[in-house]
Amino acid sequence: MVKLLVTGGLGFIGSNFINYWHSNHPKDYIVNVDKLTYAANFDNINEPNIDNYRFVKADINDRKVMEEVISASDTVINFAAESHVDTSIVSPEEFLKSNYMGVFNIPELVRKYDKRFHQVSTDEVYGSLSLNALDRFDENSCYNPENPYSSTKASADLLVRSYANTYGIKATITNCSNNFGPNQHPEKLIPKTILNALSNQRIPIYGSGKQVRDRIYVEDHCRALDLIIHNGRIGETYLVSAENKMSNIDVVNRILGILDKRGNLIEHV
Ligand SMILES: NC(=O)c1ccc[n+]([C@@H]2O[C@H](COP(=O)([O-])OP(=O)(O)OC[C@H]3O[C@@H](n4cnc5c(N)ncnc54)[C@H](O)[C@@H]3O)[C@@H](O)[C@H]2O)c1
Repeated sequence: MVKLLVTGGLGFIGSNFINYWHSNHPKDYIVNVDKLTYAANFDNINEPNIDNYRFVKADINDRKVMEEVISASDTVINFAAESHVDTSIVSPEEFLKSNYMGVFNIPELVRKYDKRFHQVSTDEVYGSLSLNALDRFDENSCYNPENPYSSTKASADLLVRSYANTYGIKATITNCSNNFGPNQHPEKLIPKTILNALSNQRIPIYGSGKQVRDRIYVEDHCRALDLIIHNGRIGETYLVSAENKMSNIDVVNRILGILDKRGNLIEHV
């Protein structure tokens, strides 16, 4: 039995990860630490009452709680973050506190107790490519964060890498592309489009909507994390993608087509 500490496990990807892990590694014990921001939802966990699951309400900035839970676990996987880019542009401070300052506790304690650590990060740390670019990001691409959200995630990645380099902590990092699937907060493009279309409300699209994103089904991301937690090379950074590129406007039009709704619901903002 492996004792897994999951942080931010009531949010979108963290909850999918816990549900995935319960199904695929039913003997493992999971402790889920979450601060309960607006993005958290208890209903996201399929089996909250089983014996090998425990929820702890805490901020990853809380050193005392983090010390208790990390010292009692084998592996720590960090999903806890403020994750909405738009909000980071309006009020970045919480992003710095959760995505960077809070993360500091984890490599520190993982080092003290000699635990395995995986940091979940985003491809947004690499910035953007021009629409007709043929090249693509890889593990050696330079970081070029373009908004406060991605800058805090990039900073945390660098902190984790520095701890692996300086203290030899047993850490890996993944930078994954845009996830979609169950439990995603309605502030994000796909759920927002579905919900607004179903109630015939306007669907806001930034600019032309021609911005292209690589999108991965959240369970595929969880499978990649499983593989890396079990077989990843310590100190390595892995980029996770489904090679499934689509523009925002194409995604929205496809959803409207499936729901038999009209394109005049789209509002370019
Ligand atoms: N959503 C994506 O497409 C995507 C892609 C790649 C990487 N990521 C990364 O995956 C992780 C999870 O993303 P998500 O979309 O599930 O986010 P989310 O906003 O849905 O969930 C984040 C969870 O973390 C919790 N949390 C926030 N700050 C906390 C703190 N200080 N202490 C404890 N808990 C805290 C929230 O309550 C919430 O339950 C993030 O680190 C994000 O950067 C997301």
